[in-house]
Amino acid sequence: MIIRPLAPADFDAVDNVHRAAFASTAFGHQGEADLVRQIHADGDALVSLVAESEGRIVGHTLFSRMEVEADGMPLQGAGLAPVGILPDLHGAGIGSALIWWGLEMLHGQGIQISFVLGHPDYYPRFGYSAKTALPFASPFAGPHFMALLLDKGVRLPESGRARYAPAFGPER
Ligand SMILES: CC(C)(COP(=O)(O)OP(=O)(O)OC[C@H]1O[C@@H](n2cnc3c(N)ncnc32)[C@H](O)[C@@H]1OP(=O)(O)O)[C@@H](O)C(=O)NCCC(=O)NCCS
Repeated sequence: MIIRPLAPADFDAVDNVHRAAFASTAFGHQGEADLVRQIHADGDALVSLVAESEGRIVGHTLFSRMEVEADGMPLQGAGLAPVGILPDLHGAGIGSALIWWGLEMLHGQGIQISFVLGHPDYYPRFGYSAKTALPFASPFAGPHFMALLLDKGVRLPESGRARYAPAFGPER
């Protein structure tokens, strides 16, 4: 298996991955495939990686630009969403590999903080925590809203704000 940046020719395969991956969840597919395309079209994709096995795209993850403010100062932020793996390959470490690679690339881009809205049993293994996200106002605030400081020089603010890219809609 290889992990590499998404290329324009991959969009259809990436659509299929997210449709199948999210159809396998309790919530179903909620437009994740279109979200990926819109984020790219808007120029808000910071890191977009596919996992390819024997010429087939089997997974994808995307980190997109966020507007983040900490005690009135801007922070370079990236939202992790979506991540999807073909259902027959769940649990094989592909999602983890994509996320670790993505975080490494974000760090290289000078991104200071990453947020995710997801399962509290999965994302803490990468360092995401609800506690780190707590000072940041967001419509997604709650136990599933987690953050990870990539810049160890950044201190958690007293208060802040985190907004996803416009592709996420008015409540972002
Ligand atoms: C969630 C997902 C991306 C994880 O990718 P993966 O390649 O299957 O996961 P990995 O093999 O890297 O990691 C497996 C671990 O993740 C856990 N895990 C997988 N999906 C999980 C979920 N939805 N909630 C909590 N834990 C989950 C497994 O229990 C396993 O835990 P363990 O290492 O303690 O045994 C993948 O299962 C998927 O595409 N799911 C459907 C789409 C989805 O839910 N995306 C995330 C939205 S927040």
